[in-house]
Parts: sequence; structure tokens; C-alpha cells
Amino acid sequence: MIFKRFNEDISAFMARDPAARSRLEVVLCYPGFHALVFYRITHFLWGLGLKVFARWFSQLGKFFTGVEIHPAAAIGRRFVIDHGDGVVIGETSEIGDDVTVYQGVTLGGVSPSVDSRTQVNRKRHPTLNDGAIIGSGAQVLGPITIGEGARIGANAVVHKDVPAGVTAVGIPARVVMPRDKDKAGQFVAYGEPAEGCPDPVLRTIESLRGQVAALMEKVEELESRQEGSRPAPEEEPEEKKTIVSAGE
Ligand SMILES: CC(C)(COP(=O)(O)OP(=O)(O)OC[C@H]1O[C@@H](n2cnc3c(N)ncnc32)[C@H](O)[C@@H]1OP(=O)(O)O)[C@@H](O)C(=O)NCCC(=O)NCCS
Repeated sequence: MIFKRFNEDISAFMARDPAARSRLEVVLCYPGFHALVFYRITHFLWGLGLKVFARWFSQLGKFFTGVEIHPAAAIGRRFVIDHGDGVVIGETSEIGDDVTVYQGVTLGGVSPSVDSRTQVNRKRHPTLNDGAIIGSGAQVLGPITIGEGARIGANAVVHKDVPAGVTAVGIPARVVMPRDKDKAGQFVAYGEPAEGCPDPVLRTIESLRGQVAALMEKVEELESRQEGSRPAPEEEPEEKKTIVSAGE
């Protein structure tokens, strides 16, 4: 089972990194792949309740690969970490299938781990849905969701949900339209969607849905801002009200 997983992980590296020439090269030379092997072992140990050992082994993995993945994070199939260095994946992160992240990406928290009222350990790291791509150096912060097939630009700082199929760039990240419209909803290496949905028409529809959702969100934000700045209706003076009712 675990070897079958590794086999498809290697295939994913081959498919998504144009520089990968052979499976042996991935096994020997890809720190992102090594980090994934460490993670799959530490996640298994964590599940057995060997938490300190899992953390220690995970730190050993960080020493060799430069990638820190908390053993409790939930990571799906065919996950690719390209180059690896400086990637940090926090404890309550959830990652779907066919996700790609580049070097320097943080899936981090912005709030303390334990709810001071209930003492419950709460989710504080992001969720990346299937086929998401996170560009190098991007910081994805808080318990937010990056939608299916969404692309996050290099060095973006994301602290709000990103709809499926869109591209978000900048600090704070905002949704942009790709210059080449045919690219919407697809992926080519270095920011191109994974092989999650092979049908280009469906991918384009997904992308348009995501963009409509992002626009709706913007409209709602503008409406609530406008409502906030509108002055409250003035109360009629007491005297005027009495005159009107006397005349009735
Ligand atoms: C975000 C990304 C996927 C967008 O690719 P794309 O769909 O081809 O988008 P475009 O190049 O058409 O750009 C669309 C707009 O976003 C802007 N943009 C693109 N990437 C950006 C980034 N990282 N930061 C800020 N703005 C960016 C472009 O300037 C353009 O703006 P404009 O319309 O005002 O001119 C790509 O630029 C990216 O950052 N990929 C990550 C690559 C990476 O991490 N490589 C590491 C390899 S080791």
C-alpha cells in the first residue's frame, strides 16, 4: 500500500517537473520527494500514538530536506513539493490530491492552537483542495480554503478563502485574470493545474465559476462597506411629530 503510494508520488514528480528525466533521478535527487517519504512515515507513527518519536523523526527529515511537515497534517495523494527548501506545513493543514507547492511556501497559522474557553485544539492552518498550486514563497495563513485547481502566485500572502479555479497574486492576494484566457483553469509547470480534471471545457467552466464567486464576494464587500458609511436616517423632531398627529 505505502509502496504503491510512493510509486504514484514519483509519477507525479515526473509529470509536473519538466527537469525530471527518470524515476531514479526523482528517488535520488529530489528533496521534495524525500520530505514526502519522511512525512508518510511520521504520519503513520503519529497515528500509532508515538507522537514524540514522530516529531523527532520529522525534525530529522527537516535537517536533511529543509522541509518541515508536521506529522499530524493530512496530505492526499500525488503531492509534489518542488525544490523543497523552506517549505513549512503546519499541524492542522489539510491537503487534497494532486496539489503542488514550490520552495518557500508556508501553510501557517495566525491564532493560538487552543481555544482559551473550551480548551479544544482548533484548526488554525489552511486547507488546499485538489489540484491547487502554490507558487514559490507564498504564505497561506489561517484556517482558510484554497479552492480546487486554484493557483497562488509566487510570493503572495493569502489570508482569505480563494475560490476554485482562479489565480490569486500579490499582498494581500487578489484574484486576477490570466493574460492568456486559454490558460484559465489549466496548469502548465510552474503554476499550471494538475491532471485532476482532464476536460478543458469543464476546467474552463470551473474557472469561470470561481471567478464569478470572487466577483460576488467583492460586490458583497463593497455593499457592506457602502452600508457602513451611509449616515443613519435622522429621527423626526418630537415637536413636528406632535403637530402632524394634531392635524390628523
Ligand atoms: C500566478 C501565476 C500562476 C500566474 O500565471 P498566469 O495565469 O500565466 O498569469 P499571467 O502571467 O497572465 O498574469 C496575470 C496577472 O497577474 C500578475 N502576476 C502574475 N504572477 C504574479 C505574481 N507572482 N505576483 C504578482 N503579480 C503577478 C501579472 O503581472 C498579470 O497582471 P496584469 O494583468 O496587471 O498584467 C504565475 O505568475 C506564478 O506566480 N506561478 C508560480 C511560479 C513559481 O512559483 N515558480 C517557481 C519555480 S522554481
